[in-house]
Amino acid sequence: MMYEKVLEATNWLKPKMPCHPTTAIVLGTGLGRLAEEIDVTLSIEYKDIPHFPVSTVEGHSGRLLFGKLGNKDILAMQGRFHFYEGYSMQEVTFPIRVMYELGIKTLFVSNAAGGTNPSFSIGDLMIITDHINLFPEHPLHGPNYPTGPRFPDMSEVYDHELIQLADTIAAEKGIKVQHGVYLGTQGPTFETPAEYRMFHILGADAVGMSTVPETIVAHHCGLRVFGVSIITDLGIEGKIVEVSHEEVQEAANAVQPLMADIMREMINRN
Ligand code: HPA
Repeated sequence: MMYEKVLEATNWLKPKMPCHPTTAIVLGTGLGRLAEEIDVTLSIEYKDIPHFPVSTVEGHSGRLLFGKLGNKDILAMQGRFHFYEGYSMQEVTFPIRVMYELGIKTLFVSNAAGGTNPSFSIGDLMIITDHINLFPEHPLHGPNYPTGPRFPDMSEVYDHELIQLADTIAAEKGIKVQHGVYLGTQGPTFETPAEYRMFHILGADAVGMSTVPETIVAHHCGLRVFGVSIITDLGIEGKIVEVSHEEVQEAANAVQPLMADIMREMINRN
């Protein structure tokens, strides 16, 4: 069973840990820069960890980093796994389960997303207040893990205190932030205009291909979750243009410093 593999990976990692962080970050699109600010004391390649999935995408490093961000011990995942790459949901969320077993209590995640809310602009930061799970396979499908209930409550997945803290910090720093619902879909295609419209009608403010699986598993493990989307393109009638991965990356890179600013401060005050 997968849970035994989680425990084997955990037991392999535990004696090597140079510190015991309670905060972890998934360095998705938008948070890559934050990795450079981590005073890394131990870096472990995914491929060396028993049962850990290994990154396929070139340029995605694939390491666990232990170290300090400001005055806080931190565990960072450099390189994440997407369902569209061909990983099972169990694999996509494996690292989150290991994090929980290692003692992590709070998870920070970021992503790039297409905006479906007509008031959004490219380059906006959207604090995720809720999500819609449209992945074709549920990350909790199968035997229930002993980390949480069979039928988990989902009334507050994105911790409201962390959202409040983010708002406070953004206001202090004069950074404009949006709030909204993130809809997770499998990709790898971006949306057709009709699909963007459908997602907006369904209640989405932004759409992307990650984060929801990790968040669901983190929540099932009792972790507090904070997520931010960088709006890298617009799925809004009249504003839809051709979009490429490169443009998404570029738009995300431009806003990275602001995102890093908020996250760094949140982690230090938390
Ligand atoms: N759709 C889905 N995923 C995305 C998008 C989008 O428009 N932009 C960045 N990731």
